[in-house]
Amino acid sequence: MSMFIGHKLIQEDSTLVLYLEPQLTEFALDFLRKNESEKNKKRTSLENGIYEYISKNLPDLKIGAAKVMLGSMLVASFSFGQAMPSYAQADMNLHQSQMNTSYSVKSGDTLYSISQKFDTTVSHLKKLNHLYSDMIYVGQSLKVVSDQLYNVKYGDTLYTISKKFGTSISHLKQLNNLSGNMIYAGQQLKVIDPHQKIYVVKYGDTLYKIAFMYDTQILPLKTINFLVGDMIYAGQTLYIPDHYMVSDPKSFLVLVNKKYSLSSNYVPPNMVVPNIPFTFNEYHQKKLLRKEAASALERLFNKADQEDIKLFGLSGYRSYERQDAIFTSNVQKKGLKAANQFSAKPGESEHQTGLAIDVTSPSVNYGLSQAFGDTKEGKWLKENAPNFGFIIRYQKGKESITGYQYEPWHIRYVGIEASKEIAQRNIALEEYISNFFSFQAL
Ligand code: DAL
Ligand code: ZN
Repeated sequence: MSMFIGHKLIQEDSTLVLYLEPQLTEFALDFLRKNESEKNKKRTSLENGIYEYISKNLPDLKIGAAKVMLGSMLVASFSFGQAMPSYAQADMNLHQSQMNTSYSVKSGDTLYSISQKFDTTVSHLKKLNHLYSDMIYVGQSLKVVSDQLYNVKYGDTLYTISKKFGTSISHLKQLNNLSGNMIYAGQQLKVIDPHQKIYVVKYGDTLYKIAFMYDTQILPLKTINFLVGDMIYAGQTLYIPDHYMVSDPKSFLVLVNKKYSLSSNYVPPNMVVPNIPFTFNEYHQKKLLRKEAASALERLFNKADQEDIKLFGLSGYRSYERQDAIFTSNVQKKGLKAANQFSAKPGESEHQTGLAIDVTSPSVNYGLSQAFGDTKEGKWLKENAPNFGFIIRYQKGKESITGYQYEPWHIRYVGIEASKEIAQRNIALEEYISNFFSFQAL
């Protein structure tokens, strides 16, 4: 196992910043102290570790100096022109300013004002700094955001990185201000959000227990915290991944929401244009649905027609790129928070599954309004959709579970068994899925 978990290059002065493996913490500090007195004799194990790391990972690079960090703490610095390294005191105040990870409290600051400055929250700051009260003092050094950046390697894509860190592509793009999907080897990406959930490890905790507690998996939990082994210690702060890529996008029961997202290159198989009336005539990708959902929709619309209920299709499949454009335009009009109450971020929309369609009627002027739910057509749809394998996906009263406002027009194909049970129990797909999985695990 390498002594270091990663590095960062500061081009201007060809300084290499190396990050110590956190599990070596105690050990590393110990041998640093021990070696201090012997520093005029021979190369220390830390120096050997540095030479080894450089020759293995950066053989062609000219490096003038190296700094060894333990999280945001500077532990040692070396100048290669110099015969011997000079050790920094293992002091919490020795922060690297260019790391932008620590903030020195100024007169008049409060945790709240600092949280605003760094786009985070008071409780996040308190957890990150192990503070038990709101008291801070001038000159105090506070950790403000994670210093852990991910170095893009050859073969990495935003998709593989998002999967590794339990995040989404659109989240990564947002965090790093990327407009496209292009990344390059050597690029450093922020993988931790300033709002990322934090957990302080208690005695007796294991990674398994924490992953279970937060409904996450061990792998993203380890990656997001740059853990190499399974060891954790009491008092350690761990970031909790809060986003996953769906692993079964083709399943009729696939759950796509603010926590589970689709890859940007996912295009559903076998899409067709259902033979139903649409609000527009020309061909458009938004007429598409997966074959099974399209035939079920035709049966539903035929039944409606027989009962003199006038329904029209408005918007079915949406590619990742189209959702991106729609969401961006909504954000420009309403702001991020408001937009995300009714519009999904790219990768997080059910429309990308080819299993969802927005339905309307002349009674609401062929538009999408919550009033549709009170019309004859809206009521009919709610009553009858489950008999054909569809559910009203965003129900009234379930906003905190689905993450979206009430949308009486958005129906989602889940198959007839699930649709009937969901309607009969008046639950959201999220609730159905969690029961479904715990039942399957029995
Ligand atoms: N209106 C739903 C949430 C979407 O944008 O997919
Ligand atoms: Zn919709």
